[in-house]
Amino acid sequence: MSLTLNTEYLKGFLTEAELSAASKEAAEAARALAEGSCAGNDFIGWRSLPTDYDREEYARIKKAAARIRESAQVLVVIGIGGSYLGARAAIEFLGGAHFNDLAPLKVLFVGNSICPEELQHALDLCEGKDVCVNVISKSGTTTEPAIAFRVFKKYMEDRYGKQEAAKRIFATTDKARGTLKELSDREGYETFVVPDDVGGRYSVLTAVGLLPIAAAGFDTDKILAGARAAQQAYANGGDNVSDLYAAIRSSLYRKGKKIELYTCYDPAFTMFNEWLKQLYGESEGKDGKGIFPASVIFSTDLHSLGQYIQDGERTVFETVVAFRNVRRDLTVQAEPSDFDGLNYLAGKTMSEVNRTAMQATLMAHVDGGVPCLVLEADAMDETSLGELFYFFEHACAVSCALTGVNPFNQPGVEAYKKNMFRLLGKPGYTK
Ligand code: PA5
Repeated sequence: MSLTLNTEYLKGFLTEAELSAASKEAAEAARALAEGSCAGNDFIGWRSLPTDYDREEYARIKKAAARIRESAQVLVVIGIGGSYLGARAAIEFLGGAHFNDLAPLKVLFVGNSICPEELQHALDLCEGKDVCVNVISKSGTTTEPAIAFRVFKKYMEDRYGKQEAAKRIFATTDKARGTLKELSDREGYETFVVPDDVGGRYSVLTAVGLLPIAAAGFDTDKILAGARAAQQAYANGGDNVSDLYAAIRSSLYRKGKKIELYTCYDPAFTMFNEWLKQLYGESEGKDGKGIFPASVIFSTDLHSLGQYIQDGERTVFETVVAFRNVRRDLTVQAEPSDFDGLNYLAGKTMSEVNRTAMQATLMAHVDGGVPCLVLEADAMDETSLGELFYFFEHACAVSCALTGVNPFNQPGVEAYKKNMFRLLGKPGYTK
């Protein structure tokens, strides 16, 4: 396990007694999770995914990924929320924010909004390239991906004919039920399963995440190995970094820190932040309770939100995710005339400068009344990614128990849908 949690920037914000009480609660919550006696216990299948996955399906995922790479230059992934954020977080974490500009296979994520121009741009990007589609929806009825799939199904059939299109469309959905499953069986699409006991935001280590990630060329064996190490480390509850993180964030919340700022100093983490925001927001924000998850990329956002964080309302705490090793580095060169006054940095690598920016910011934010936690992983690679996914999923379930909410339901997301369906005249919603 490479993850460590540095708590030195919490001094003065939490007492030993507060932390020790919350740690005991976290250990109990983790034990209830392990025993399956927690709230929402019919949705804890994610816990054993790194070890108890369907081997036959996993082999098919790898084969399908290889076929996509051989036969296409664009993979269109259609899904929203938990049916897209994990895959996109992983691909950008591993391949960088410019993955699509550099990789031989572009992965386009569509159906995660109702914006017509977005979809039109995706169609434009497919022109002149061979295309495969992975449509992902557990329910099979979510409006945004359903609209996008209707458009792309027609596009694929017009372009390739029905038979060839069917070979290029892969569906990830419920194993037996739902519109998408029925359609896939009728049309002959290869299907992959979102297990019944795994909710959308906990599904990245199922085919939902693994097929697009493998198609993008990344090593899913290593991701699962990283997650497996975390699964083993947190199996019994108590003395581990994930439970400690849950205890800390819960203690801070009880002391009025209501906003958690997920922070990273690498833009490749941007979509991982989005995945975190969904995981924690949808799991914890209910019954009038819950920490509001927000995110920043530094140093970029120090030039926009930095003022507020340093000096605004004191309701924020920061969870920094840092990496011990960088993938690529650059050294600042000496310049004879020193026209920009930067020669004091000559010989330093950009990663050293970035690391120093992090230290300086942590010190400033602590001085300004912002408690900070630093979670450190080895590198932005597959193994650390698997560990991080599992670390945050486990901590989220434990945190929700400490907040007193069911981590695995999302009753609040239905409210806008009912209004939208009524306004659009969907049958059954017109009154
Ligand atoms: O976490 C969740 O459950 C949600 O974000 C869902 O993943 C999202 O609403 C998409 O649902 P579906 O996969 O049924 O289309």
